[in-house]
Amino acid sequence: MKFFIDTANLNQIKEAHDLGILDGVTTNPTLMAKEGIKGQEAVNNHYKTICEIVGNGDVSAEVTVVDFKTIIEQGKKLAALHKNIVVKVPMIPDGVKAIKYFTDNGIRTNCTLIFSAGQAMLAAKAGAAYVSPFIGRIDDSGWDGIELIQQIAHIFSIQEINSQILAASIRNSLHIIKCAEAGANVCTCPLDAILGLTKHPLTDIGLAKFTEDAKKFQ
Ligand code: E4P
Repeated sequence: MKFFIDTANLNQIKEAHDLGILDGVTTNPTLMAKEGIKGQEAVNNHYKTICEIVGNGDVSAEVTVVDFKTIIEQGKKLAALHKNIVVKVPMIPDGVKAIKYFTDNGIRTNCTLIFSAGQAMLAAKAGAAYVSPFIGRIDDSGWDGIELIQQIAHIFSIQEINSQILAASIRNSLHIIKCAEAGANVCTCPLDAILGLTKHPLTDIGLAKFTEDAKKFQ
């Protein structure tokens, strides 16, 4: 499973990249706004900087419009910023149409705001490189986000569908493990959830003992 970081914060992206495990980045308008970026030129420059930090990994840049014509216009401009930009398109009828258009024109897409297997199937049928089920938001609403990953993974497997399942809206480290078990191809995570995977109290206890004992022969 690939590890993406779900943020527009450059320091967090650098930190995850420096860990040596980062395969890509996802952003969304909320995450961009959180960084205080204002104006299209600043947004574009921010995306370029993210692409440079990540190196070879894919960077999802989300369109901020909802009708076919302007999704296409905006998506083409985003895709032209860098070869690793993947245009993030919402799961609406005009979005599906746009994904098909982008696919036919060699632009890769990530279909966002997926909350059902049917939505994932339709996005994949239109040619989305990634489909993004929002695990945390499903859990927040009293359903089971991991079950949705399992269902989509099962359908994609038996139907031989090539779109990558990108588990999004990850809230914690356990979500990452469960997404891997359930068959997600990619998990896009907050930095804390990634760093949480390094933690175990027995590691801390063991390291304290080793560090103490190492003093005996230094
Ligand atoms: C990823 O592509 C999504 O934008 C993101 O994971 C949404 O997460 P949230 O539910 O924490 O806002």
